Order: sequence, then structure tokens, then C-alpha cells
Amino acid sequence: MRPVGDSHRILIIGSGGREHALAWRLSRDPGVERVTVTPGNDGIHPPLARRTVPAADAAGLIALCRAERITLAVIGPEGPLASGLADTLRSAGNATYGPSRAAARLEASKWDAKQVMMEAGIPTAYARAFTTRPAAVAALDDFGPPWVLKADGLASGKGVLVTARRDEAERFLAACLEQDRFGEAGRRVVLEEHLSGEESSLMAICDGTTFRLLPAARDHKRAFDGDQGPNTGGMGAVAPDPGIDAAGEREIGERIVRPALAAMIRRGAPFQGTLYVGLMRTALGPKVVEFNCRFGDPETQAVMPLVTGDLAGTLAAAAASELGAAGLGRDAGAAVAVAIVAQGYPEASAAEGTLEGLEALMGRDDLWVFHAGLARAGTTWRLTGGRAVHVVARADTLAAARGRVYDAIATLGGRGWRCRADIGAASGPGAAAHGLKATVEGGGRT
Ligand code: AMP
Ligand code: GLY
Repeated sequence: MRPVGDSHRILIIGSGGREHALAWRLSRDPGVERVTVTPGNDGIHPPLARRTVPAADAAGLIALCRAERITLAVIGPEGPLASGLADTLRSAGNATYGPSRAAARLEASKWDAKQVMMEAGIPTAYARAFTTRPAAVAALDDFGPPWVLKADGLASGKGVLVTARRDEAERFLAACLEQDRFGEAGRRVVLEEHLSGEESSLMAICDGTTFRLLPAARDHKRAFDGDQGPNTGGMGAVAPDPGIDAAGEREIGERIVRPALAAMIRRGAPFQGTLYVGLMRTALGPKVVEFNCRFGDPETQAVMPLVTGDLAGTLAAAAASELGAAGLGRDAGAAVAVAIVAQGYPEASAAEGTLEGLEALMGRDDLWVFHAGLARAGTTWRLTGGRAVHVVARADTLAAARGRVYDAIATLGGRGWRCRADIGAASGPGAAAHGLKATVEGGGRT
């Protein structure tokens, strides 16, 4: 095995803002010779390298690792992990950061994850699983209102319904269990106790037995300001989460991450990779809302600018199941990531918008532009997906980081895009104090 700390040639598999942020951060580590992203996006440019092999092409990825003498593959999204890409790459002799197919069940089946939590005594919402509509409907009175209903499998973030309306809950059950709305992923539905509190995300770099915590972050999932509108893939994130202090983070590590790793060892599926803990901080303490088997998006975009120390060496050590004393530090400041999305997101996926002025924001050391659904069209950028780009700022305080990121966004032109104006505002002076109207919209530049 190559000694940890040697020069790394890293391959990041994925195409979103999370992968761009990881690539940027890993490329800054002194031991890193090259970072390649595949299939990446048009925002990946030198010194980062981009290749076009998709995550679904395992043979192509193995060939790419060989041709480019990759020393560590890092898998971004859950789909390929749940399909066993990490196992395939490792069997071909490639050091790979990311859980096996068996360990990725923590995200790929909400019911499997729930059983691991119950077995390990991890605090979480009480839940039951159903495979037939009548049984699930009969159980509704035991759970709500409000009701929390989850398709068991992977549903691109769309498989969860939280509602106070019984007719909606019943329609969701019918759609999943009788009308195949989410295909296989919806043939089992989990009914869950409703939890109240503030949500937080904590990511742990795990080597199977031990772990390192990254700064906690707070996602903003709803489409519109004031946490209104439908759930989305994430409209922005702040880190560190102002609601969790160092002692709180340690407690979550000991009460949630450590027992989860032990339970996965007992199941014969040690978890190596990023364990993402989605939490509700309730009056009775933190409870797990979900486990993900990968870095969060957009949390990663806010967290990466704050991670100090040898991240590449730490991921390589975790991939080799020898995290040992590998240490990561953290910047004392705060970061705010704001997603710029297509005007109609999340309902309308077809994007017609453009973005102008991004280049002027690049090349700074307190501000980053992490690309997701954007294609270069001459001197402008064309929106190609719901979430186009994340603008991220770091500063000594959360309020200053928020000011910096919205100042930068105010310089952008183009049309057909918008972003929330209140990312991070809950814990400081509101966006209104910064002179922003409710939602920032593209094309408003004068
Ligand atoms: P998930 O995909 O499991 O994270 O669920 C998506 C969103 O639904 C979460 O971010 C929460 O806002 C909400 N949610 C999930 N489970 C619960 C629960 N048990 N109680 C209240 N809200 C929940
Ligand atoms: N930010 C939520 C997720 O990555 O699933």
C-alpha cells in the first residue's frame, strides 16, 4: 500500500457543486499532484482536470484510473454508491473513498437505516414500515397529524412528504404503494413520528471503525425565503451551524456516529466514507432524521472553505481503513453558500436562463463559485439544470460572510435565475438589513 502523505492523483466522480468544492479543496493540499473530476461540469477548469466518463460507466472509470495513475477515487453521489461502484473500483485495485454497496444501505433504504439506529440505540423518530396501502392508511391515526411519510429507497430527494393533510398523506401512500410513483424505491413506505426543532447536518469522515467530524452545517431546503415553498435539493447552507457548539458536535459523534459505525461492523458492512447525519435538534436532544452515505450538497460547498489540514491524506487514510491520528483542523470563521437556481426550480426542470459576471468573482481567496448546472456559451453561461451554481463566501463571522456572498451575487447579470435572500439570516441581521428584497432575481442588475 502506498504510504499516506505521498503525492496524490485524485479522481472525483460526479458533476455537481459538491464535487467542484471537493476538487477545489483537495487541490490545495500540499501532497496533491493533480485532481481530476469526471464527468464534471463546464466550471471545472485548470488547474483542475476534467474527463467525460460518466459515473455509470464502471469499466470506463477503471480504465481512467489506470491511464491517469489515480491514487484515490472519491465518489460523490449516492446513486453510484448504492449500485456498488466503490466495491467495483476497489476490486479492480483502486483505493476508493466511499462506502460499499452494503454500507450505502444506510442511505439507500430508510427502513434499513432505521433498524440500524434502533439496534444501536441511536436517538431517532419512532417509525414503522408498510408495503400495502390499507395497512399504512389504517396506521395513519397512530402517527399524525402532522404526518411524515417516506418512500424507502432513493428518490432524488423527492420521496419524503411532511403534511398536516390526511388526504395528501393518503394520496402519497396510494401513489407509492399502488401507482408506482417512485418505482421500486416506493414499494415500501416508512411512517415516522413527526419531530420539531432546528435541522442540522453533520458529516463524519469514517474509516469503518473511527471517524473525524467536519464542521456542522445548516442546509436550507425550502425553495423560498422564510422556509416557504416546496423542498428542493438545497437552496444554500451555512457552516459552522450556529446552533451547535463544539460540545454538541462531540456529543453527536459519540451518541450517533460511533454507535452507527459499530452497528455496521456487526452487520458485516463496515462504513467507510462520509456518514452524513441529518439531525433534528429537538427539546429532547438531537435525533436523526436521515443518514446519507456521502458528502452533503450544498453543505460541502460551505464546509470545504473551513477545513484546514491534510484533507487528501485524511480521505486516503480513511479509504485504507487507517484513519489513525490523521487530523483535520478548521478555520475560525464562517462560510455561506447560496445556490443560484433556475427561476422555476424545483417544479420546472427545463432551464432557459443565463448568468453573466461569474468570471469577475473567480480567483479570490474569500469567495468561490462552485458550478453545478451551467454550460459555457461563449462569454455567458447557460443554465442547464435546476441548481446552476453556488456562490460561497468565507469571513470572520457569519454576518460578514453573508454580506460578502450577497454583495457578490448583486453583481451578477443574466436572466431566468433566482436565489434565496435569507441564507444564514436566521442567526443574524436579516437580509432586509443588507438591502435585499425578498428573493434575488436574475436580470435585475443595473
Ligand atoms: P429526508 O429526506 O429524510 O431528510 O427528509 C426531508 C425533509 O423532511 C427533512 O429535511 C425534514 O425537513 C423533513 N423530515 C424528515 N423526517 C422528519 C421527521 N421525522 N419529522 C419532521 N420532519 C421530518
Ligand atoms: N443537503 C442534503 C443532502 O445532501 O442530501
